[in-house]
Amino acid sequence: MPALAYAHGRYLPVSDAAVSVEDRGFQFADGIYEVIAFLNGRFLDWDKHLWRLRRGLAALHIEGLAADRALSAIAGRLVHRSRFADGLLYIQVTRGAGKRDHGFPAGIEPTLVMTVRRFDIRQRLPQLDTGVAAISLPDQRWDRCDLKTTGLLPAVLAKQEARLAGAFEAVFVKDGHVTEGGSTNIYMVDSAGAIVTHPISARILPGIARDTLLGLAREAQMTVVERPFTLEEARAAPELFLTSTTAPILPIVRLDSAPIGSGSPGPISARLGALVWAEVRRQTGWSG
Ligand code: PDD
Repeated sequence: MPALAYAHGRYLPVSDAAVSVEDRGFQFADGIYEVIAFLNGRFLDWDKHLWRLRRGLAALHIEGLAADRALSAIAGRLVHRSRFADGLLYIQVTRGAGKRDHGFPAGIEPTLVMTVRRFDIRQRLPQLDTGVAAISLPDQRWDRCDLKTTGLLPAVLAKQEARLAGAFEAVFVKDGHVTEGGSTNIYMVDSAGAIVTHPISARILPGIARDTLLGLAREAQMTVVERPFTLEEARAAPELFLTSTTAPILPIVRLDSAPIGSGSPGPISARLGALVWAEVRRQTGWSG
């Protein structure tokens, strides 16, 4: 079964789905998106993703999207029809299609597109034991990184640079501080064993995996400190790690080719890994 799409009210193979060349997503990146994992046919953190989608649409003044119940029904049908057990749902909502004009055209309806693809999140389990490499790069994004807009060019270029360097992620640095990754949130462990991560602000995306991880850490009486930290602190930290929908937690064991800590995943990442994966299994009934 190929990847499946929902567009213009129809369910069809991704290769047959299309939107207008005048869609403002295509013309201006005038839209918001979400990536949601499903395992065992069940979505992880569905309500939180929907909440963030709505928040982004409100910030962009995109109105008229179908109600939450309709979105859930479409997403559920798409996963069901795909017959994929484990995968990723992508949702994109743009302001709609209209004659090219920077200001909002009158009377247009938002465009809603969803796709589902197979994604085997099991690949992250061995990576949890080995860790991944990252490179640091200047954060060249705009001032509203809290909005999950489709305008991802700085992230696209940074992730490609990371790929060419043989690294999993690009760690963004702004004014000397680590903000987040190209498509992940970033954390360090300090010398006292506290988990340190950039506070929620317009400089980072409020990650759903971040929210889950910090909640689990606090429940387990681990110390969490939400404050900006410098690239120098990150380089000297005993542990670094990242989170995202597609990588619920992964240790970063090399940064710009230098080892982090011992160069192997540390005990805090391992403990958090156990908590995060237990939560994934609890929510989805997944046993992999
Ligand atoms: N990226 N920061 C950025 C810049 C992101 O693009 C993402 C997610 C995250 C992590 O957010 P979450 O935990 O909600 O996935 C942080 C998605 C997965 C993507 O663009 O593919």
